[in-house]
Amino acid sequence: MKYLLRISLLSFVLMLGAACSGDRPSTVGTDAQVEARVNKLLSKMTLSEKIGQMNQISAGGAVTDYAEAVRSGQVGSILNEVDPVKLNALQRMAVEESRLGIPLLVGRDVIHGFHTVFPIPLGLAATFDPALVEEGARVAAVEATALGVRWTFSPMLDIARDPRWGRIAEGNGEDPYLDARMAEAMVYGYQGRQADSTSMAACVKHFVGYGAAEGGRDYNSTYLTERQLRNVYLPPFEAAVKAGAMTLMTSFNDNDGVPSTGNSFVVKDVLRGEWGFDGFVVTDWNSMGEMINHGFGVDRKDVAEKAVNAGVDMDMMTYGFLSHLEELVRSGAVKEKTIDNAVRNILRVKVLLGLFENPYVDVAAGKAVQYAPEHLEAARKTAEESAILLKNNGVLPLKEGVRILVTGPMADAPYDQLGTWSFDGEKSHTITPLKALEARFPGKVDYVPGLRYSREKRNGFADVAAAARRADVVLAFLGEEAILSGEAHSLADLNLQGSQSELLAALKATGKPVVATVIAGRPLTIERDLPNVEALLYSFHPGTMGGPALANILFGDVNPSGKTPITFLRTVGQAPMYYSHNMTGRPYNGETLIDNIPLEAAQTSLGNTSYYLDYGASPLFPFGYGLSYTSFSYSEVGLDKSSYKADDTLKVTFTLTNTGSCDGTEVAQIYIRDMVGSITRPVKELKAFERVSLKSGESRTLTVEIPVEELAFVGLDGVKKVEPGDFQVWVAGDSASGVPVLFNVF
Ligand code: NOJ
Repeated sequence: MKYLLRISLLSFVLMLGAACSGDRPSTVGTDAQVEARVNKLLSKMTLSEKIGQMNQISAGGAVTDYAEAVRSGQVGSILNEVDPVKLNALQRMAVEESRLGIPLLVGRDVIHGFHTVFPIPLGLAATFDPALVEEGARVAAVEATALGVRWTFSPMLDIARDPRWGRIAEGNGEDPYLDARMAEAMVYGYQGRQADSTSMAACVKHFVGYGAAEGGRDYNSTYLTERQLRNVYLPPFEAAVKAGAMTLMTSFNDNDGVPSTGNSFVVKDVLRGEWGFDGFVVTDWNSMGEMINHGFGVDRKDVAEKAVNAGVDMDMMTYGFLSHLEELVRSGAVKEKTIDNAVRNILRVKVLLGLFENPYVDVAAGKAVQYAPEHLEAARKTAEESAILLKNNGVLPLKEGVRILVTGPMADAPYDQLGTWSFDGEKSHTITPLKALEARFPGKVDYVPGLRYSREKRNGFADVAAAARRADVVLAFLGEEAILSGEAHSLADLNLQGSQSELLAALKATGKPVVATVIAGRPLTIERDLPNVEALLYSFHPGTMGGPALANILFGDVNPSGKTPITFLRTVGQAPMYYSHNMTGRPYNGETLIDNIPLEAAQTSLGNTSYYLDYGASPLFPFGYGLSYTSFSYSEVGLDKSSYKADDTLKVTFTLTNTGSCDGTEVAQIYIRDMVGSITRPVKELKAFERVSLKSGESRTLTVEIPVEELAFVGLDGVKKVEPGDFQVWVAGDSASGVPVLFNVF
């Protein structure tokens, strides 16, 4: 399947199709040759050796600890070992000292960069720039594979609509379309458009629904209907599979009572049956064992049987397959054919990666490519594109020569700005905002931290206020430590932690302009802080090069262009809130808030609509929102026709003008609403976006092509199709703006 969107500038087509899994780049031969090789190897394997391939262990200790298991063919993959000398030694045991010489597949959580750390995935999504995200994933693959890591447990594609969930940091936010584009970009980046020794197998995770954990509490149950799965949660995974993702990980959650690791409907029926996935499926860490905790199996043998029969190929750290599969095959509870298929899937990936030809790494050469200048440059550019300007009363960009005070717990937090799940990034290589500003203005930066870390509580900020009075502008770097987001790090309160809000209030009281930069793992509830600042830049943990990137934006070398990949709430009680909610029977129409309700008001349901008495119906910032130092206007939004057949393509034309005084980049977004369906439909859905760079005063007319089949959804009859009827289309700079244009599908 090709990219469904084609953008054309006038008649010039800028963006063309991409490969599908059938086109998976490989230098090791045709599909038939790969299959023949896999089958030949399989035919030589004992049952025990086959089961060994299905076993993944966590290394990290002495090589001798695993020697016996590797030499006897009891290990197919290892994770958590990144010392290339040890990896070479382990590979030698597998390749030269085991009976069949099958190389190990070395896995690692390379989530947003390996040594050179890029912004957390939520920040990557804020770029709305798949090409740049692909480049970043390529950098991660080049660094990781150079040291022997050939498999990353990324990208995480879990749609997340509740910022209390700590792992919202690790995904692409709330929207399936944006998630799908980012998924493709990461798969292409990790695996490479052309396979070579830098190809790192992607592992799309967590299959499926994990981000919908009740109340945002990690590992909790989800209750997604099959229709929700098919219309919202599955499409990004399907896009990744079509882009050629080699592996997939099952999730920890149970959906409607069925833990994913034992869910044959999603793994066998959908993933393999409907999508034709020919890679392998790995469990999450001990998620097979956790099915016992779920009460879904009595013991390890029972859950091993359930997992393998549900279509799981590799066991991460339960040892359930290794301990029980042989017995289960002998008793007939598991067919040997099931084992053979699993092993085929695993061997296929090893062959495609060229591991048999290239099992070892050149340690010195591998070390030399870490933190290469071009890698740091890509990380800086990505951090720049991912920062979102949320408020600016004109104070930004700052002028060179102003006296600045730098303050706040994130100004010089080299570990924390790397963000969650960055195991290999080193804080000694991080450039913080403070370091970047000091390098830019040697000897001229006044720095009074105020708070040493984001959770610190303090009474009074006399020292910071005194320093602020000596400055022209205060740059306050606030936010969250890395450890406050990520796996298991859910929060019930999303305000700035510790005394950070008090620090801002104290700074405001000095009368000096305050520019806040929030560096965090999730969209925090910052409404109460906005009145205390003249400008606010939001940066999801920006990685190694975050400091220079943010300094470049603050001083106007770079014009911000990031957009919110997730709705920003006014208060945590609004969660979950997302722009593409279904149409309700009583849409909000701006009525009475709590302060306007008369005492002893009459009780009625007449005329009532859907909103909170205390917070109304709107978020603080909608999905897709972000300011620039310039301004943009949209005009002449139109379609080539007013009526389309289901196999037509919409041509959406609009003129975008840079109406401000500096050059800039806008993310033009196209949303569509299906007015009437066999089921209720979202109020609008993102269907295309494009980053457009315009000089000050420049206008450009763009045409975006969207195949009508992109409007298909799974309706009442369970079949995915476009339902004829009326639609509206918006072209705008965020999900809450624009004027709809009508069209019809017949
Ligand atoms: C558990 C996490 O859920 C998963 O995302 C990760 O890849 C594995 N641990 C391995 O570290």
